[in-house]
Amino acid sequence: MTKEEKYKELVEDIRALIDGETDMIAIMSNIAADIHQTIGFWWTGFYRVIDDELVLGPFQGPIACMHIAFGRGVCGTAWKRAETVIVPDVEQFPGHIACSSQSRSEIVVPVFSHEDNKKVIAVLDIDSEHLATFDETDRKFLEEICGLI
Ligand code: SME
Repeated sequence: MTKEEKYKELVEDIRALIDGETDMIAIMSNIAADIHQTIGFWWTGFYRVIDDELVLGPFQGPIACMHIAFGRGVCGTAWKRAETVIVPDVEQFPGHIACSSQSRSEIVVPVFSHEDNKKVIAVLDIDSEHLATFDETDRKFLEEICGLI
């Protein structure tokens, strides 16, 4: 299966999985698990916007830093810009927060509020052990998945 085909199935799977569910932690937990298992990344998880920082949410993979300030690292930058950030080589990203030395590339996708579609309520962060893992296909489908939340 190509990555595109895997993502297409994943989106439909997630749509069915969270249908009717309203608890955010339950939704984020199963989305992180489904993405992680279906596509197979190093670290897949959410950080939630709480007051003026990002706080670690449901994830799959090794332990990670728990608090990230606005504008800091890739996650804080995606929150500040309110847009997806793709980093082909984390060592080249100024201010990258190294939760694990194994992480080589990263994508962070904002999750927007349903009430105010400009307000970021969380970010989906995915790390890979390989350089340049993420491309426009990942962006397209991960943005679609975050739009389902
Ligand atoms: N590398 C991220 C921090 C989170 S961990 O990778 C799980 C960043 O720079 O925002």
